[in-house]
Amino acid sequence: MTQILDGKQTSIAIKDEMANQVRQYTTKGLRPPHLAAILVGDDGASQTYVANKEKASHEVGFTSSVYRYSANTSEEELLKAIEFLNNDDDIDGFIVQLPLPAQINEQKVINAISPEKDVDGFTPINIGRMVLGEDAFLPATPMGICSILKHYNIETTGKHCVVLGRSNIVGTPVANLLSRKGFDCTVTLCHSRTQNLPELTRQADILVVAIGKPEFVTADMVKDGAVLVDVGIHRIADESKKSGYRIIGDVKHGEVDAKCSWVTPVPGGVGPLTIVSLLQNTMKAYKKRFNL
Ligand code: GUN
Repeated sequence: MTQILDGKQTSIAIKDEMANQVRQYTTKGLRPPHLAAILVGDDGASQTYVANKEKASHEVGFTSSVYRYSANTSEEELLKAIEFLNNDDDIDGFIVQLPLPAQINEQKVINAISPEKDVDGFTPINIGRMVLGEDAFLPATPMGICSILKHYNIETTGKHCVVLGRSNIVGTPVANLLSRKGFDCTVTLCHSRTQNLPELTRQADILVVAIGKPEFVTADMVKDGAVLVDVGIHRIADESKKSGYRIIGDVKHGEVDAKCSWVTPVPGGVGPLTIVSLLQNTMKAYKKRFNL
């Protein structure tokens, strides 16, 4: 029987606990945690992401602010904004929503974020700390994947975990985290140049798919009883929906799910946990600031 790794339920449970904690701190007279976001341009998906982050922040009692810049903002202007947020004691953590317009060097911008406020875990310092197993802000999506596996007590020790996709924000860090002590998976990281891909994915006890291609994983690529984590989010035009679109993942769930022991749905799987991770990182920054 296939069981659901329900990201929505898991995120509600974690947010409820966090909201309680925030209430305790504010009752004592402390200000609430504050998460800020820098949003450049008017990309629809980025606006949705930032709006969801604001909504989740308010649900747990955080202060949330968004600094909006036009699509033709210069790199210099953006670096100034980051410098301002780095030094603002009222802000515990912030993110710069990606992607940025072409005239801006993304890595230069990320490098300018103070590692102590880098709640996305994107700066070289936090990535280095993560790889060394030191205390770090972990990137939100990989951290969310770890949270959902833990929440459902999925056995990971000694399991073969195959990760599809080697992006800096998902595939590479999740491969690192799941191979670490505590999770103890044996990890295979696959990418666009991997040979005999289905042969490898069929060996996966845990299959994490973050390849960015709609319905890429089909039933013939999955072992019976596998735990399947689908990180993909794609909008597909659908006239039958009021919105005009539906959301699908990197996995053909219609034919794959029945083979799995556990599966993350899309939507409602990894997505809600990603935002929760950002809140957890902000809470961590806040606690450090106030020695809580
Ligand atoms: N764009 C897509 N996902 C993310 C994310 O997790 N953080 C930021 N800053 N930008 C993104």
